[in-house]
Formats: sequence, structure tokens, C-alpha cells
Amino acid sequence: MEKDMEQLRQKVLTCQNCPLWETRQNVVFGAGNPNAEVLFIGEGPGEQEDKQGEPFVGRSGILLDKMLAAIDLSRDKNVYIANMVKCRPPKNRDPKPEEVAACIDYLRCQTRLISPKIIVCLGRVAAQYLISPTFKVTQQHGQFHQKNGIYMGATFHPSALLRNPANKPAAMEDFFTLRELIREVCQHTY
Ligand code: URA
Repeated sequence: MEKDMEQLRQKVLTCQNCPLWETRQNVVFGAGNPNAEVLFIGEGPGEQEDKQGEPFVGRSGILLDKMLAAIDLSRDKNVYIANMVKCRPPKNRDPKPEEVAACIDYLRCQTRLISPKIIVCLGRVAAQYLISPTFKVTQQHGQFHQKNGIYMGATFHPSALLRNPANKPAAMEDFFTLRELIREVCQHTY
């Protein structure tokens, strides 16, 4: 296991563990404060993320940053943002199980290095892999349960909110629930 995030990043930047490396422009390793108590996990890079090498920098990222700001969170300050897979799946398709399998140790290593108090899955792909294979975001969003000492929960993926803005108020409620949980279990986020 790598001893710090920079060492891990250097390793991931040259990864060829699955075929996604052949079509990527950039590896999207993750961004934020490596000492954050709150870790957000998305699905995988989209077009803009692949171009820029940063997670959530396209339209969905702008929305995510706004929702974070509404509860005094920011990737520059007090959260870390990562993805299930670090390279863009062509045409933004879901990552294949074998691609997730090839990449998941990087996320595990990031999680160990960060040692978050709370993990928020953004959307179905992360929630079904990390919380439960039958997880239904529309029914179970905003519920946080402890798993191996970490509070785990999920909310709507920002891209899903752009497609279906009717769910934005429910998603915002999830962020307010998260704010309460942070106040309860985190020491230095606020
Ligand atoms: N969607 C994701 O799941 N992750 C990103 O980094 C960007 C869009």
C-alpha cells in the first residue's frame, strides 16, 4: 500500500489494468483535501473530466460544487472527491464490472489514506457497489448507516439531477441530512 496520496497518484497515472487506458486523455485520480472527513464517490470521468484530469468539472460538477457550497463544503477545503473508475468509459457508458474490479483497489487505497468518517455515493453505480447490490437511489437516498466504522449513504448523481431537475429538492434534503451528520460525527469539517 502506498504511503501517501501523491505516491498513489503517480502509480495510477500510468495504469493499464483495464482497456480504458487506451481511450483516455487523462487519468482522473481524484481531488480535494486528503485529510477530509467526508469522501464523495462518483461513477467515472466524463468528457470534460477526461480532458482536464479533474473529477466533476463539467456541468454536473458545477451543480455538485453548488450543492456542496450550500452546506459549507468545498473541494478546496473540506471534502475529497473520487470516482469508481479513474478513466473515462467511452460515450459515458456505465463502467463494466471488470473495469470497476480492475480499478477498485485504487479507491480502497485512497479511502484508507483519507480515513473518512462519512462516504457519500453519488448515484447508483457507486451505491450498488459500495453499499448494496440492490440499492435503489430513488428509495434509499439520504439514509446513512455505519459500515466498518464509516457512515455510508447515497444521493442522486448530479448528472441525473440535470436530466431530472424534479429531484433537486430531495437531493438538497440529503445534503442537509449530511450537514447534520457532519455536525454529529466530524471534528474538523466545520
Ligand atoms: N460523473 C462522475 O461520476 N464523475 C465525474 O468525475 C464526472 C461526472
